[in-house]
Amino acid sequence: MNKTILEMNNIVKEFPGVRALDGVNLNIRKGEFHSLVGENGAGKSTLMKILSGVYTDYEGEIYLCGQKTVFSGIRNAEKAGIAIIHQELNLIYELSVMENIYLGSFPCKLRHLIDYPKMELNTKELLSRFELDISPWEPIRNLSIGKQQMVEIVKAISKKADILIFDEPTSALTEQEAESLFKIIESLRKKGVTIIYISHRMEEIFRFSDRITILRDGSTVGTWERKNLDHDTLVKHMVGREIADIYPRIENHPAETVLRVENYYVHHPLRPGERVVDGVNFELKKGEILGIAGLMGAGRSELAESLFGAFPAESGGEVYLSGKKIHINSPHEAIKKGFGLVTEDRKRFGLITGLSVGKNMTLSVIHKIRKFFLINEKDEENIVEKYIKSLRIKTPSTQFIVNNLSGGNQQKVILGKWLATEPKILILDEPTRGIDIGAKSEIYNIIKDLSERGVSIIMISSELPEVLRLSNRILIMHKGHLQAIIPGEGATQEKIMHYATGGN
Ligand SMILES: Nc1ncnc2c1ncn2[C@@H]1O[C@H](COP(=O)(O)OP(=O)(O)OP(=O)(O)O)[C@@H](O)[C@H]1O
Ligand SMILES: [Mg+2]
Repeated sequence: MNKTILEMNNIVKEFPGVRALDGVNLNIRKGEFHSLVGENGAGKSTLMKILSGVYTDYEGEIYLCGQKTVFSGIRNAEKAGIAIIHQELNLIYELSVMENIYLGSFPCKLRHLIDYPKMELNTKELLSRFELDISPWEPIRNLSIGKQQMVEIVKAISKKADILIFDEPTSALTEQEAESLFKIIESLRKKGVTIIYISHRMEEIFRFSDRITILRDGSTVGTWERKNLDHDTLVKHMVGREIADIYPRIENHPAETVLRVENYYVHHPLRPGERVVDGVNFELKKGEILGIAGLMGAGRSELAESLFGAFPAESGGEVYLSGKKIHINSPHEAIKKGFGLVTEDRKRFGLITGLSVGKNMTLSVIHKIRKFFLINEKDEENIVEKYIKSLRIKTPSTQFIVNNLSGGNQQKVILGKWLATEPKILILDEPTRGIDIGAKSEIYNIIKDLSERGVSIIMISSELPEVLRLSNRILIMHKGHLQAIIPGEGATQEKIMHYATGGN
């Protein structure tokens, strides 16, 4: 197991105006589980894109099984036995699950005819191996992000790689899905597949790694055997400073009720007879942090998006804002009434990926910086600079195209965009997904400040420690129903899981 299978030496990669990698070294042994960690923007994804043939213009050398290797493209890298599951999903929304899996390598008969029966059979086999209850014919757009991610994983595994790269595979998965992914990885390892794994979840890194390489600012800090590295040392090398406790002490004083929701329901978008949220009642106080916990399919995101006006036709019940009954029929109305929503799906709800960091942040506050028909550029610049600084967004300028930011930094732009609207009620749906541990603690501090200044916060999170440490009260959902609302103080993971799994 100590044989080197891959070496990347002195890798340098520049984008216009950005030196993403500045002499990175990476050494991978055959059959090991090797984790790659580092802050948002450290260069992890870029390095893996070079290894998988996405980027071919770089400096430095790659040795595969001792042979100097230059990949001419993705296909070429796949042929050499390297496959990658990208951080951002690369599926085509309008195509079916099986078409996505076999895109570019459709099984054919009679030379040019796509062999659909064969494709269906193969796909069924793959899906069942991973215990995935998905039809091969289902269009991708009908699947949850977690399921889409699983399809992406199945697709990569179907390529029978010797080296498999996972770039943040679990950030969009539920706990259940993540566990089934870990089982798959275990079985691949038994077959001798080498795993390179990127994640911001420290538990995963310590649970599975044989060795860990830390990157910082485009350079290698070093490689450690897992047993020689503890959590605090890893974090210190990653962010370049000590972080004693990532959770701040919150001293907010929830006051009068701002939002009251009664008998709230949301119909299933495709199966009208079914409700994904049903009979939910709760109150939210000024300056309060209300955590929402629940398992996958509990209806948490649907509740959040629907309160934000995303599905006016499918939802019902009563909503009172400061005692006045309101109807929100669109996100636009929600924004005007003081709501903000940070969603888990960056591409669908959060960002316009082709626009600049600045434009993305100011789009929702355009009415504040517009004088007649002219946009006051100075005001725009000020707002953007403020949030780039306070969120420590790693971008060369405000004009930088958002798509070119690292995944975690894109998430911070979404947060900045909603903070700029100065919302009265801020709904956060998995706000720290894909965010490094240093930035997480910054986001917790922002949540603290907001709540202490009287902003009411609804925070959905699958990371229970986050819910436990930040919430004044915790609302727990199970299969669309409100199972319990408990005080944050004295709450435990066990208690939350008890209600989340349907206990009374
Ligand atoms: N296509 C691109 N054009 C310009 N700059 C880019 C491009 N892709 C990445 N970068 C820059 O390169 C640097 C490294 O980004 P990379 O995506 O590799 O970070 P990362 O370590 O994967 O971060 P994260 O944990 O947030 O995913 C960042 O500063 C990023 O903005
Ligand atoms: Mg990345």
